[in-house]
Amino acid sequence: MRQRVKAVAADKKPFQSDTERFILLGLLCVAALWTINRVFAPIDTGDARPDPPAVETASDVIPANVPLATGRESIDKIFVQSGCTVCHTIPGIRVAKGREGPPLELGTNARKRLADPAYRGHAATEWEYVQESILHPGAYVVAGYPDHVMPRWYGRKLSAAALEKMIRYLLRIEAVGE
Ligand code: HEC
Repeated sequence: MRQRVKAVAADKKPFQSDTERFILLGLLCVAALWTINRVFAPIDTGDARPDPPAVETASDVIPANVPLATGRESIDKIFVQSGCTVCHTIPGIRVAKGREGPPLELGTNARKRLADPAYRGHAATEWEYVQESILHPGAYVVAGYPDHVMPRWYGRKLSAAALEKMIRYLLRIEAVGE
């Protein structure tokens, strides 16, 4: 009896039974799927989003590129991430070399703007003038510079603390002369 069973087993060709064919097919499918997965994995980056572009030119200064400043950042970081540096030269901030707007020397110039007979804004103090210039740039347009270039949405991107930090910094900057 034992011998007969052995003989049958030896006689049997591989993959003849349905079960064996089924298993083989399954293994082939797994191998095929694994290969496809490996070949396409590097192309399919899934949901990974690239970092938001840094604000490097005046046209990059759009709300989508400017994060909300909380006021806990360093003063350099607030000016850079808000895009002020691409349009303004700001003494003491190394990368701030922009020329679209006037150099920010409010320690000297805030007083001059308020004294300008053409001034029609609502600020009564130098502090208020700087705040108004950032939040409502159209209230007074510095002579020789274009209106509607400075963004009008900074009220949405600067917390009260960030705004205060900027104003305090800007009012300390005296003009050193050309
Ligand atoms: C896309 C260019 C641009 C960006 C970005 C920009 N500004 Fe201006 N800014 C200007 C221009 C142009 C003027 C002059 C016209 C005017 O008065 O609106 C100006 C004027 C000002 C003034 C008045 C200066 C003075 O001498 O009276 C202040 C203050 C100022 N900007 C601060 C900022 C700060 C702070 C930021 C960032 C939070 C900033 N600006 C971002 C273009 C820009």
